[in-house]
Amino acid sequence: MSAAKTAEGIKVIEMIAEMKEIVSKVKRQGKTIGFVPTMGYLHEGHLTLMRKAAEKTDFVVASIFVNPLQFGVGEDFEDYPRDLERDIRLAESAGVSLMFTPGVNEMYPGGYGTTVDVGNLTDKLCGRSRPGHFRGVTTVVTKLFNIVEPDIAFFGQKDAQQAVVLKKMAADLNMNLEIEVVPIVRETDGLAMSSRNKYLAPEERKAALVLSKGLELARNLVGAGARNTADLKREITNFIIREPRARIDYVEILSFPGLKETENMDGRVIIALAVFIGDTRLIDNMVLEV
Ligand code: PAF
Repeated sequence: MSAAKTAEGIKVIEMIAEMKEIVSKVKRQGKTIGFVPTMGYLHEGHLTLMRKAAEKTDFVVASIFVNPLQFGVGEDFEDYPRDLERDIRLAESAGVSLMFTPGVNEMYPGGYGTTVDVGNLTDKLCGRSRPGHFRGVTTVVTKLFNIVEPDIAFFGQKDAQQAVVLKKMAADLNMNLEIEVVPIVRETDGLAMSSRNKYLAPEERKAALVLSKGLELARNLVGAGARNTADLKREITNFIIREPRARIDYVEILSFPGLKETENMDGRVIIALAVFIGDTRLIDNMVLEV
C-alpha cells in the first residue's frame, strides 16, 4: 500500500518518497517538525513523548518500524509485539499528524550497505550485552532523521544509553536538530513502562518490580551517605538475586552522561540495570546528582 490513508485525521504513510514530499510541504509552510521514532506497541511512555512533541512543535511525526538491524540473533525481532491499528488511534489522540510505517524492504532495500557507528559510548551496558544493537539504532535513526528532517526529536530516558549515544551522534555528525530526552514513565507500582512488559506472565510481572525497587534501595542508601559504587552495586545485586525469577545481565554505576567507570558516587551518576525476568530482558535506570 503506497497511498496515504486517513484514520480520522492522522495520515499513515509507508513510502519514503511520499514522506519527503509531505515534509517539504510542511517546511515550506514554515512549520516546525517534532519527531517520535518508535517500534510500536505504544504505551504511556511513547504517548508522553508525542504529547511533548505536540506541545513544542507545530507538526508531529511519529514512526513505527521494528528495526531488524538492532536485534541480535536469538532476540525477539520476530515476536516483538505489534498492533498497528491500535497504535495509530493512540498516536492520533496524542497529537500525531503523520505516522510513518515503512516495511523492511523500504528501509533496507537489496544491496543496502551503510551503517553508522558511535564510538566509546556503545561498548558498555546494553552495547556489551547486545553487540551490534547500537549500530542498528544509530543507522535507522539517521535514516529516519534524513527522511523526517525534524527540528526536535524526542526519546525516553528509560533507554538512557540510547539517548546519550544519539545525542553524541547528532553532535559528531553536525545534525541539524535538537534531541529532547523525556523522563521515564512508570506504572503506579513503579515498573518502568516498556512494550516488552507484555511478555510478562502475572507472577513475572510481580517479580519485575525488583528493578525499580533495586533502584529505590540504592537511592535510599545514597541518601543515608553510601558513596562507594562497588558496595552499592553489591547491595543492589544481593537485593535482586533474592527474586528467583530474576537473572541479572548487568548492574552498573557510571558517570552520566559520560558513561565512565567511577569508584565513588560523585557528581552526576547513572545506576543502570538490565535483568531477565524469565525470558524477558528488562532495563531501568536512575540518574542521581550526588
Ligand atoms: O527506542 C526505540 O524504540 C528504538 O530503539 C528506536 C529509537 C525507535 C530505533 O529503532
